[in-house]
Amino acid sequence: MTQHLLTPITLRDLTVRNRIWVPPMCQYSVAARDGVATPWHLMHYGSFARGGAGAIIVEATGVLPEGRISPQDLGLWNDAQRDALVPVVELVHSLGAAIGIQLAHAGRKASTQPEWGTPHPGASLPEADGGWTTVAPSAEAYADLAAPEALDEAGIDHVVRAFADSARRAVDAGFDMIEIHAAHGYLLHEFLSPLSNHRTDSYGGDLAGRARLLLRIVDEVRALIPGGMPLLVRISASEWVEGGFDLEEATQLVTWLTEHGVDMVDVSSGGNTPLPEGTRIPVGPGYQTPLAAHLRTHTEMPISAVGMIDEPFQAEHVLATGQADVIRVGRAFLRDPSWGLQASLALRGDEELIPAQYRRAYRQQLRRG
Ligand SMILES: Cc1cc2nc3c(=O)[nH]c(=O)nc-3n(C[C@H](O)[C@H](O)[C@H](O)COP(=O)(O)O)c2cc1C
Repeated sequence: MTQHLLTPITLRDLTVRNRIWVPPMCQYSVAARDGVATPWHLMHYGSFARGGAGAIIVEATGVLPEGRISPQDLGLWNDAQRDALVPVVELVHSLGAAIGIQLAHAGRKASTQPEWGTPHPGASLPEADGGWTTVAPSAEAYADLAAPEALDEAGIDHVVRAFADSARRAVDAGFDMIEIHAAHGYLLHEFLSPLSNHRTDSYGGDLAGRARLLLRIVDEVRALIPGGMPLLVRISASEWVEGGFDLEEATQLVTWLTEHGVDMVDVSSGGNTPLPEGTRIPVGPGYQTPLAAHLRTHTEMPISAVGMIDEPFQAEHVLATGQADVIRVGRAFLRDPSWGLQASLALRGDEELIPAQYRRAYRQQLRRG
């Protein structure tokens, strides 16, 4: 049977063994609050590589302490954080997968309480518990979160430098790719959206102004990482809200990202505003795939699709029908870290992705196949 999911893909000098990629997923597991990776991260990322993923993107990693969603996030603003990620990179490489890292600044959605072990998950973290003042394009809060301060020019320059410095550390740690987080209502998305960016300087106004910060960061990062290293950007291609950043603006943005040397865009959605009463995101199998397909058709950019693509044949269908170049599988990989092996057994029926140490466990399945 022809299959696309298990076919390698090459971006610049990087060839990835298949198109089953794991998207960034925050683990909120840095109990020491110092942004340094722990044994949990080693186990977590290693398990996906062991389970047949082609590439894994490490969770949103703060480029600055104040850019973390919670104090328990990973960070990459110092060299100790870089050094702690080296074993993660080496483990994933030893298992045949590629690894990228999502560099992030959470903007006005920073300084929140993580999903567990706190009295009010998702709410702003009180200062007494280590919370901090957040920053944003405009001094407007997200829902009930604490109000941010608007970044001035010096603050914007500081953010650009922080993305560049973190990218340099990621290269030094051995990562194969860098992903810039411009989705889900975090800082770069806040700048992109007319709903959260009400600036009157050159970083606001029309799309060119709102995209200026992201493009500056892309240029800085592209200029310092090796020429053969892929640079990725994740966007929310729709906010599902009238008057928000939408697919039309996303199409223009992706065209600019192509011109600025980005190699793949991952197409997510939402996260910048709570949904107005009566609005409903059409959540369901593959609900974001039409956004990916639109961008793949209307731009030259390689596209990855994500969002409830839970089944191997569903993933194969998205690729076979030309809606994306790569599939990202998130929660399904958390439920079953062997998702990639199971997909290869279902689609191709051979043991190539199965580590030699584990092949005895699959003999019966292979015979049946
Ligand atoms: C536990 C968890 C943590 C997440 N953290 C991040 C993150 O760090 N960065 C990001 O861009 N998206 C994050 N997401 C969104 C996922 O990357 C993905 O887009 C989403 O889960 C939809 O894909 P899925 O249906 O395959 O899970 C997270 C999702 C989950 C479930």
